[in-house]
Amino acid sequence: MNRKEILEILNIHRPDEMQDLSRRASSQLKDTLGTRVYYRGLIEYSNCCSRDCLYCGIRRSATGVQRYTLSREEILNAADFAAEKGYGSLTLQSGESGTPAAVDFARDIVGMIKERTRSVYLPDGLGITLCIGEFDKSSYRRLFEAGAHRYLLRIESSNPDIFHRIHPPGDSLKRRISCLRNLKKIGFQTGTGVMIGLPGQSTEDLADDIEFFRRENVDMIGMGPFIPHNGTPMGSEFQGSRSFPATGERLHLSLKMIAAVRLAMPDVNIASTTALQTLHALGREMGLKFGANVLMPVITPGEYRKQYQLYDGKPCMDDSPEDCAGCLAGRVGSTGREIAFNQWGDPLHFFTRNQSKKGGAHGYFRQS
Ligand code: 5AD
Repeated sequence: MNRKEILEILNIHRPDEMQDLSRRASSQLKDTLGTRVYYRGLIEYSNCCSRDCLYCGIRRSATGVQRYTLSREEILNAADFAAEKGYGSLTLQSGESGTPAAVDFARDIVGMIKERTRSVYLPDGLGITLCIGEFDKSSYRRLFEAGAHRYLLRIESSNPDIFHRIHPPGDSLKRRISCLRNLKKIGFQTGTGVMIGLPGQSTEDLADDIEFFRRENVDMIGMGPFIPHNGTPMGSEFQGSRSFPATGERLHLSLKMIAAVRLAMPDVNIASTTALQTLHALGREMGLKFGANVLMPVITPGEYRKQYQLYDGKPCMDDSPEDCAGCLAGRVGSTGREIAFNQWGDPLHFFTRNQSKKGGAHGYFRQS
């Protein structure tokens, strides 16, 4: 799929064209990876953050956020819950601190989770994705050696002007990209993503984002609509401003991005993110129907969820991990798809890119 075709998709408007796009993306997914949906139980284990991103509800200078870091025991309990539910993989997410202590903490919990979740179903324990921000290469290596095998680091936008408009001075898109490359070199299954519907972001910019994903040869994509948070600089700017796309437009753009990525990079994993559900009650189901194959049930203990509000209207705030389990099962069921329990669900792309690097002919899909 070339840039012109990507742009054609991003510029679709008519409902019949949207339906056709959903059919194309679903059929590509079915042919490449199958129709099953993989779970990554999401533990938002700390909202302490040293960054001051202009869109984010837990940015350093946000007031009214009670900062927390879950205890090891709380994290391990959540991991046990995921293992018992057959989720297969976890995503450990936190605000960014970039300190050696943060690496030690993450390394310790990864090691403990791997150890205690080995079972007949999961001989290597739960699959673990980390989403804890920018670190130097040696820190990433220590986290990999502890047993985390996936890492997500969104670039938020591949357009340097947009990146710099939504981040404080000192943040660097180049540094973010160099982190992504380090993660890949170390051997992580590597994911990135962008926010969709940012002020001043055109469909050309979004097509560039997809070309960036392709050029960097990443394995996983997590993208979602930008959603203003009242207590942030971009949230205040949003009030009454016409430079932000309306809700429906951001939802549709997000679905078109998911489908375009599925068609442009057929063997990557794509998450249907919670942010989609903020724009529409059935947003996450829609993401699945436009080519996504990963869902992230929140398993952060209930009392902390309200303090991890990246954007306004984040759903599931009053729910327990058990509520989310039941709710998501229903949502997947409604799309006619099946959940792949007790499997890691690694992205096929990771294996094919490594095979082609070695000159081998056969990729394989590691199931667990
Ligand atoms: N709207 C949408 N997504 C957001 N994120 C942070 N704040 C917002 C917001 N206001 C996303 C960023 C970040 C991820 C953890 O959450 O893309 O990388």
